[in-house]
Amino acid sequence: MKKLVVLSGAGISAESGIRTFRDMGGLWEEYDIMEVASPQGWENNPELVQNFYNERRKQLLECSPNKAHYGLVKLEKYFDVEIITQNVDDLHERAGSSKVLHLHGELRKAQSSVDPGLVYDIEGWEIKMRDTCEKGSQLRPNVVWFGEPVPAMMPAMDITRGSDIFVVAGTSLNVYPAASLLDYVPKGVPVYVIDPADLSVPFNVNAHIIKEKAGKGIEILFEKLTGEKM
Ligand code: APR
Repeated sequence: MKKLVVLSGAGISAESGIRTFRDMGGLWEEYDIMEVASPQGWENNPELVQNFYNERRKQLLECSPNKAHYGLVKLEKYFDVEIITQNVDDLHERAGSSKVLHLHGELRKAQSSVDPGLVYDIEGWEIKMRDTCEKGSQLRPNVVWFGEPVPAMMPAMDITRGSDIFVVAGTSLNVYPAASLLDYVPKGVPVYVIDPADLSVPFNVNAHIIKEKAGKGIEILFEKLTGEKM
């Protein structure tokens, strides 16, 4: 089976009711990134950071996967589908995708604040300021903050190098190193870009633009790639 690799971002979860970051009304219009999504922010005010992610986790529990997530699951009948997501939500998994790599962590998991290798599932929606890891340190969100290393980048690059088809869905390609994955797409491999906005894609990419929201865009891609209705 041909390998179809997807790089997804917040836009694929927008139709599930989850806010993006840089659109009109996005999260970064309301919150200061450095206050809620950086090690310095955690240092300065851990309660503020904890509450920011507790609120997003609480909202996530009320959201469901949308047509775009389910369309990617259906493509597994035709391709070896691997999803590399910048999203911290679990909607790809809840839709049934079998291979999902999170570049920026997982909202429904907690990690030790002294040993990032200690990661725990969160029951419910809250990490409390007294919840500790097995080493006794405060638990924090299992999210990669700005300025922190992105350990999943190495496996993500390997997956991308092996792609026969590459899909970019719902990401502004503003954040590195995630956006640099396009540099690892083998020469000539088609890159389908699904986004309602105009995105600047590197000139050397064999880009096929589908200027639609993710639900409609994945449906168009599905029919293009399989000749079948999604
Ligand atoms: N369907 C598809 N794409 C959409 C939709 C939709 N319904 N609505 C918005 N978009 C597009 C926007 O046009 C934009 O290009 O989704 C993209 C969202 O971009 P961002 O808000 O920048 O989100 P993302 O690219 O995922 O951000 C990357 O930045 O803040 C960090 O860690 C955070 O993982 C995040 C990273």
